[in-house]
Amino acid sequence: MVEIRELQAHVGETATVQGWVETTRTHGKVAFVVVRDGTGILQGVVVRSAVPEETWARHQHLTRESVIAMRGRIKADARAPGGYEMEVESLDVLSLAEEYPIQPKEHGVDFLLDHRHLWLRSSRQRAGLKIRAEVEQAIHDFLYGRGFVRIDTPILTGSIGEHAGTLFETDYFGQRAFLAQTGQLYVESACPAFGKVYCFGPTFRAEKSKTRRHLTEFWMVEPEVAFADSDENMRLQEEFVSYLVERALERCADELEVLERDTGLLERVRPPFPRLSYSEAVTRLKEGGSDITWGEDLGAPDEVALTEGQDLPLFIYNYPRQAKAFYMKENPDDPRTVLCNDLLAPEGYGEIIGGSQREDDPERLRTRIREESLPEEAYGWYLDLRRYGTFVHSGFGLGVERTVAWISGQHHVRELIPFPRLMNRLTP
Ligand code: 4AD
Ligand code: MG
Repeated sequence: MVEIRELQAHVGETATVQGWVETTRTHGKVAFVVVRDGTGILQGVVVRSAVPEETWARHQHLTRESVIAMRGRIKADARAPGGYEMEVESLDVLSLAEEYPIQPKEHGVDFLLDHRHLWLRSSRQRAGLKIRAEVEQAIHDFLYGRGFVRIDTPILTGSIGEHAGTLFETDYFGQRAFLAQTGQLYVESACPAFGKVYCFGPTFRAEKSKTRRHLTEFWMVEPEVAFADSDENMRLQEEFVSYLVERALERCADELEVLERDTGLLERVRPPFPRLSYSEAVTRLKEGGSDITWGEDLGAPDEVALTEGQDLPLFIYNYPRQAKAFYMKENPDDPRTVLCNDLLAPEGYGEIIGGSQREDDPERLRTRIREESLPEEAYGWYLDLRRYGTFVHSGFGLGVERTVAWISGQHHVRELIPFPRLMNRLTP
């Protein structure tokens, strides 16, 4: 058995390939079958006069997604899909598939999402998910290479990580528990143990928004660095994001091509990224006719307006305190704001990162927890971090699906996660 991606080394030899049938065609006495094995696609050519009649007959009965093993001589052919062809000598049907629901025609997205377990096999879906896998690997490689220690944080939690409004609540042996909205508070605890740490896992938000950017279950990587201030935090983010883009360009050229991504735009993604303070952003938005008032969080249309015509991602820093989470550090130069940033991807993709310097003063942190009406008793352990050796530290969270949607140039985040969880979708 040979994997299709290794065919280069088998040109001129006889080999066996097995996989799923994508298409079949017959032109008189020559028939074709395109097989996918997960590593590539290969066209088999069956010449009626060169094979036993039963081999020809088997080909004629093949259905889409049937599983076959075919054996024959491999030759290079630039015109063939994948660049190689097999002169088929024998063909075994390992499983004859029933009529496949996904046909080469336009299906509505609801139909496709209902058949997500099958839709994964389609070329565009394979390309998007391959890029996702590469970006995830690149996330680990970058952080590992810089000495970060991976910390796995709990998914069942007793304290609210971000906002009370978007919690999934569950019963934990009679106690209230939540699905984690973030691993941040836990990863902060590991910071004095290891210095540079990160968590990477699924996070959950009961977002009642049906937009192209929202999932209720999404994956987030959250690095946290001891003795880094907000400025250093942004420098890490721009290097990190540039590395992820570079890896996708380097190792997913075929997939980006399948998705018809304009890679010229991605090639320009290099540090430093431009920075704009929240207050400057509001001024700019008002000049553009927006009726935003200082103090509100930026909405998706604001983010699109701010990045219009830009090639690089854009940092917006130091948002108003009331628009952001309780744990962000008060800005000593303007206490109405906190030391934080969002990173907005260009081309209308909007926020892919939220980050901040953390409030390291125990009294200010306690005050913020009260101001947000959070249950103080659930944060005793988090406040301990400020009692036993408090320190300047910063971190951020990068959403995998939004980042991959931008890099792969896909409109909706739902196609960049194998099984999307949306407000109205829990299956398959
Ligand atoms: O800005 P957020 O809420 O930040 C945090 O959770 C912090 N605890 C991170 C940290 O400082 N350690 O979320 C971070 C990122 C967003 O920028 C976005 O990319 C993604 O997570 N995200 C979502 N992605 C898909 N669907 C949703 N509903 C998302 N909510 C946030
Ligand atoms: Mg955010």
